[in-house]
Amino acid sequence: MNSCIYPGSFDPVTNGHLDIIERAASIFDNVVVAVLNNPNKKAFFSVEERIELLRKTTVDFPNIEIDCFSGLLIDFVKRKDINVIIKGLRAVSDFEYEFQMALMNKKLSPKVETMFMMTSSKYSYISSSIIKEVATLNGCINGLVPKVVEEALFNKIK
Ligand code: PNS
Repeated sequence: MNSCIYPGSFDPVTNGHLDIIERAASIFDNVVVAVLNNPNKKAFFSVEERIELLRKTTVDFPNIEIDCFSGLLIDFVKRKDINVIIKGLRAVSDFEYEFQMALMNKKLSPKVETMFMMTSSKYSYISSSIIKEVATLNGCINGLVPKVVEEALFNKIK
């Protein structure tokens, strides 16, 4: 089976993430969306909440699995016996750090390839961080995240 891993914080999942997930799911037989559980980084949503939001928003895709990991991504990738990491690239600003991570992951496991997909232009300016900032300041995030995520954000902010 032709599988890939799409890792991230997903705090929370945005329409930009879902665009990448949908496109990866049309290329690979199986897409593992892997939520980073980083106890050293304060997240807005717990890992369980982030997983739940991902489950709800990917329910229509039969070939998507939601999982979580802590520690090195490459160790998780090896445990899953998958050779492809998918990453979304929004702008040039993403490139440097993604390039560094791709090369480090390649050094750690030469048989694992990182493949990049350009984010759809309509979502190229959004990130989970900017969505949280706008929502916290009561701004409109309609159309940038799924309805269920919008509700979860405003419920948490209340
Ligand atoms: O959504 P994010 O926060 O941009 O995702 C970043 C993520 C989770 C893909 C990256 O931070 C990661 O892989 N973290 C796991 C720790 C690790 O493997 N670090 C070394 C990277 S070379």
